[in-house]
Amino acid sequence: MSDLIGKLNSLEGEVLAQIAAAKSSDALEQIRVSVLGKKGSLSEVLRGLGSVDAAERPKIGAVSNQVKAKVEEALSRAKETLGSAEINAKIAKEKIDITLPARSLHLGSLHPVTQTVRKITHILGKIGFDLTTGPEIETDFMNFEAVNIPKDHPARDMQDTFFVGPGVVLRTQTSPVQMRAMREQKAPIRILCPGAVYRADNDATHSPMFHQIEGLWVDKGVRFSDLKGTLQFFAQELFGSDVKIRLRPSYFPFVEPGCEVDVSCFKCGGRDEKCSICKGTGWLEILGAGMVHPRLFEVAGYNPNEVSGFAFGLGIERIAMLLHHIPDLRLMFQGDVRFLKQFL
Ligand code: PHE
Repeated sequence: MSDLIGKLNSLEGEVLAQIAAAKSSDALEQIRVSVLGKKGSLSEVLRGLGSVDAAERPKIGAVSNQVKAKVEEALSRAKETLGSAEINAKIAKEKIDITLPARSLHLGSLHPVTQTVRKITHILGKIGFDLTTGPEIETDFMNFEAVNIPKDHPARDMQDTFFVGPGVVLRTQTSPVQMRAMREQKAPIRILCPGAVYRADNDATHSPMFHQIEGLWVDKGVRFSDLKGTLQFFAQELFGSDVKIRLRPSYFPFVEPGCEVDVSCFKCGGRDEKCSICKGTGWLEILGAGMVHPRLFEVAGYNPNEVSGFAFGLGIERIAMLLHHIPDLRLMFQGDVRFLKQFL
């Protein structure tokens, strides 16, 4: 009997010394399991109880309970001191240095194409052009036939047009919106349609997807001089009040007469032979335009003897490149923030 009590007492002494020496809550937990756990050293000692006189057992039991209570108490006290020391150490390590400079916030910005669309629609909005849209997936009929581009026209060539299915294409121009607008409403019409167009072409100045803005003004008595006045106003608002425009005869199947429109170089005014924008020519081509072809009025159900109108179409990326001196069209579509950040 005294043997067991002696064992319990020395176990107590050993364990209390271990607890006092423990350096972390993990170590304390290990001690707890190794002493008080099911297979722990206390149970180990008590296994000897079987061979003890029944009368002696309660006494041993009482001593064992005392040992257990002492160990538990020592453990919980040690846990408290070690625990708070650990928390303090953690806090000290994670201290926030409020003198460090803050990370700056980056403000996003509109893409140069969007900015240019907004600029152009704002300018032409001032003289009554309303915004409209049309589908990018267009019928062959609307994209070509209805705007007077017959079946054998080179613009329909496989190399230029993306065909989506029988009779369906990705629109190669915003001009089908002219026809959609005229079929939907009666004259007077004064609309602008910005949007993506698609052509199988890809180099520094061509992209398989780019953007155009189509303008259309139809009313009684609209004349070529109205087209000229509108474009003059537009060019001066966009590039500066001292620019001039120049109209060169050209051919587009949906207008007659048709022209290409140049603006005098807003950078050098034609005075610098080495100008990086106009290359010394003094002129920059900005759009195609003309008087709406009578055949379009017929297809739309208008009487060409009653109304007349003009249309124009321009490439938005081209205008943005001119305005911001952007050397390569592909920069527009690469999503490089270093490029985009320049257009805040
Ligand atoms: N649709 C023509 C093009 O894509 C541009 C244009 C529009 C020309 C309207 C004249 C009138 O090249």
